[in-house]
Amino acid sequence: MSMAVELNNPEKRILRVMQSDSNRDWTVSELCGMTEFEDQAIIVGAGQGLVEQELVKGTEVRKSYWKLGKEGEKANSQGLLEIKLWGWVLSSEDTSMDSLQSVSIVEKHEIGIGVGLLKSLGVSLVNGCFVAPENKEGINSILNERREFLKKIGSSEEGVIETDLDMELLNHFKNRKGLLVSLEDIIRTWVITNKGKEINPKHLEEKTMIADITPELLQGDSWKNAEFKPYDVSLKSATPLTGKPHPMQSLIERIRSIFLEMGFTEIDGNYVQTAGWNMDALFIPQDHPAREMQDTFYLSKPESIPIDDERLDQWKAIHEHGGDTGSIGWGGEFSKDVAKRGLLRTHTTVNTIKYISENPNKPCRVFGIGRVFRNESIDRTHLPEFHQIEGIIMEPGANLPMLVTTLKTFYEKMGYPEVRVRPAYFPYTEPSLEVEVKWRGQWLELGGAGIFRPEVTEPLGCSSPVLAWGMGLERLAMLVLGLDDIRQLYISDLEWLKSQPVL
Ligand code: PHE
Repeated sequence: MSMAVELNNPEKRILRVMQSDSNRDWTVSELCGMTEFEDQAIIVGAGQGLVEQELVKGTEVRKSYWKLGKEGEKANSQGLLEIKLWGWVLSSEDTSMDSLQSVSIVEKHEIGIGVGLLKSLGVSLVNGCFVAPENKEGINSILNERREFLKKIGSSEEGVIETDLDMELLNHFKNRKGLLVSLEDIIRTWVITNKGKEINPKHLEEKTMIADITPELLQGDSWKNAEFKPYDVSLKSATPLTGKPHPMQSLIERIRSIFLEMGFTEIDGNYVQTAGWNMDALFIPQDHPAREMQDTFYLSKPESIPIDDERLDQWKAIHEHGGDTGSIGWGGEFSKDVAKRGLLRTHTTVNTIKYISENPNKPCRVFGIGRVFRNESIDRTHLPEFHQIEGIIMEPGANLPMLVTTLKTFYEKMGYPEVRVRPAYFPYTEPSLEVEVKWRGQWLELGGAGIFRPEVTEPLGCSSPVLAWGMGLERLAMLVLGLDDIRQLYISDLEWLKSQPVL
C-alpha cells in the first residue's frame, strides 16, 4: 500500500511487533518488553499516534482494585467486630446489654454498630439480653466468609481486582465505614487494524532521527542517510528572558521611524535654555503665569545666559508694541534680564523655534523627541520630567488642513485611527488646536498644535507659514501599554518590564 502515513521510530517498532502476531491485543507492559523501550510513556505516546493514523485500535478499560482501609486492617489483626461479639454471645453466661458495656471486648463507641450487626445476623434482644438463634452454623459460616474475604484483600499489596471478588461481600463491606478503599487503574490495550497489517515492513525500518544539528555532526557522513526530526511549531515554549529595550525606548524608536518615513528630519537641543528662547521668542508674555517659579525650574547656576543684544531688542519691540508685525504686542515693559535667565526647557518648542531662527527661509519638515521639565507634583498622570514629540512643517502655502492631516496620519500609523482636533489657545499660535485621540471609547487629549503667529516668525525673517505641534510622549505610552498610572513607566519594576511586549 502507499505510504500515506508518517511514522516515528517508536511507532514503527510497535507496529512491527504487532504485525508479528496480528490477532491479539497488547498491553503496555507487553509492548515494553517486546520493543525494549523502557519508558511506558513512549509506548502510550506512540500507541496514541498509531491510533490517530488508524493503524491500531486502542481500548481503555478502567479497572477497580480494592485494598484494606484502616478499619479493615484492624479487623484483620484484632478480629471483625461482629465476630468478637458473636463469640461473646456464645460463651457468656450473662449476655445482657449491661454486661456487654462492662466487659472490654469491644470499644464503647463500637457497641451501637455491633448490636446492629448482631441483629442483622439473626441475634435477638430479649428482655435486654442477647439470644442466639437456632441456626448457629449459618451465622458461623457467614462470619467465616467475611473473615476470609478481608484476609484475601489484605494478602495483596497492590489490592485485589474487583472482578476477582465476591460481589455480595464486596457490597456489604463497601457500606461499612473505613473497611475498604478502592483504586482505579486504566488498562490500555492495542490491536492492529487491517490498515496496520497492510503496511509494508520495508516502511517500518527505523531511521536515525537527528534532533540537534551540531558542528560535529556536519563534519561526518552520518547525517546523509539520517532523517531530521521536524520542529513542532505548535508546541508551547518558555519565553526566554533576554535583554530588550525599555518599552519607552522602543516607543521612541517607533515614533522616530514613523516621522522619518513621513519625510521629516530629526533635530535635537539642550535641556538648559534661556527664558528668552523658551518663552519670549514664542511671544509668551513675561507676566504669563506658566513662567512663575511653580511651573518652571529656573537655574541658579548659570542664573543668566547671554543672548545677542539685537535679538533682545527685537523681542522687546515685539512684546511691548508688536514691532513691525502690525501686532500691538502685550504692552508693559519687557525685561532683558528676565529673558536671559537660565532654566530647564519646559517644552521642546524651544528646539523648533531655534531651528527656524537658524534656517528662516528653508522649507522644512523637522521633528524632535526630547525630555522637558516642569515643576509638577507627581501623581497618576503627572511627572516633573517627561517627553514631548515636537514637529514643524514650514513651506509656502502650508495650511491648517495640512497640519491636521499630518497629525492624523501620525496617529493612524501608531494604531489610533480616530483623531479629532478642538480649538485651543497658546500665546504663540493662531489658530491653536488641541489634538485628541479615541481610546477605549474615550477622547484623550494628547497635545497641542497650531500655526505660529507673525509675532513669532516675522522677527526671525521667516516668510512662510509654520505649522507646529507638541505632544506628550508618556500619555501616548500609557495608551500603547494600557497603563493607568504614568509612574509605572519609570519605577523599574522588573516583573512588569519582563512582561512587556517588544514594541
Ligand atoms: N508647547 C505646547 C505644550 O507644551 C504644545 C504646542 C507646540 C502647541 C507647538 C502649539 C504648537 O503643550
